[in-house]
Amino acid sequence: MSPASTGVPTALTNVHAQTTLKDAFKNDFLIGAALNEAEFTGQNITAVALIKAQFNSISPENALKWDSVHPKPGVFDFTAADRYVKFGERNGMFVVGHTLIWHNQTPKWVFQDKKGNPVGRRTLLKRMREHIFTVVRRYKGRIKSWDVVNEALTRDGTLRQSRWMEIMGEDYIAKAFEFAHEADPEAELYYNDFTLEKKMKRKGAIKLIKKLKARGVPITAVGLQGHLKMKWPTFAQEEATIVDFARLGVKVAITELDVDVVPATQGNKTADIKVNAKRVAGADTYSNGLPDGVQRALAKRYAGFFGVYLKHRDVIERVTFWGVTDRGSWLNTRGRVNHPLLFNRYGKPKPAFTAVIQVAAK
Ligand code: G3I
Repeated sequence: MSPASTGVPTALTNVHAQTTLKDAFKNDFLIGAALNEAEFTGQNITAVALIKAQFNSISPENALKWDSVHPKPGVFDFTAADRYVKFGERNGMFVVGHTLIWHNQTPKWVFQDKKGNPVGRRTLLKRMREHIFTVVRRYKGRIKSWDVVNEALTRDGTLRQSRWMEIMGEDYIAKAFEFAHEADPEAELYYNDFTLEKKMKRKGAIKLIKKLKARGVPITAVGLQGHLKMKWPTFAQEEATIVDFARLGVKVAITELDVDVVPATQGNKTADIKVNAKRVAGADTYSNGLPDGVQRALAKRYAGFFGVYLKHRDVIERVTFWGVTDRGSWLNTRGRVNHPLLFNRYGKPKPAFTAVIQVAAK
């Protein structure tokens, strides 16, 4: 098929044919993608071909979350998770587990007794231990890295008042790491969160990591989720964040990378129907495709971030994209058509793909 018939410029097709992401960065860090069920079960043929060609690490977008694997008391369902892990093994990939303890996608029963009243610390600790042991042990030696605790901090850097925190107190975090380590002593254990580039939140995370380390908690790395915007963060903020965590003696990974290109709707809601209608339309600016100028700006943005990651490749273990193609991205929500990844809705490489490969070639 000629480049013209695929709609991809010749230069891109050539780059695609010659270089893949995982090869371009093979001496630097792993390149990962988060997979949904249609991908790791092989139904999405276009995405599967890309995953095999481009990535050497995978994360489960939803398949290993509490509500997926442990929907009811005493009931574990590993149907999807088993297929996810097997997909990674069959393709010789580094398999990541996401996530053990989180405030989202955790069923209500976890925090309640049979009558619906809140359970006490001892019961919750027991449930946490049972969950972590069952899940981590099942994939011992196969899932190499776990996001043990996800998003425990608020934007001001204090600990989020989640049900975990309310019932168990702040050492729920240490306990989760200790249980995970006991269940698989070889697994890498992560604290994973978003917007750690923001100073107040980062300060809170640094305090948390220091406390965990002082207690001897086996934490390997911090996961910077990397849900980025076109104007935030700056490359300097990204670099300062990586350096700050590296200084604590932990590794860093970019665990959920994407760049939201759709401008956020401005301002608060108003009663003026016309103004609201305009804002709603504004929220789906790129539903007919990404204009060239924005496409180029996205490529520059990705190149800048990869420049920072490459500079700090001594501490960066992995860069994982939160999705494979734009079509599958979680950012296509609230009626928005988004374009946050390196491969477009048809699985074709975007200019941002070329830009990222070129960073590696320098
Ligand atoms: O599985 C049900 C399905 O049975 C039901 O019919 C359907 C109807 O809405 O919902 C399905 O569940 C959805 C699930 O994704 C699987 O597709 C949930 O509604 C939806 O909320 C859920 O969204 C996920 C989100 O986490 C939940 O918090 C996204 O796919 C996933 O990309 C996103 O990932 C998170 C990371 O885990 C942590 N960091 C932020 C990141 C982005 O939000």
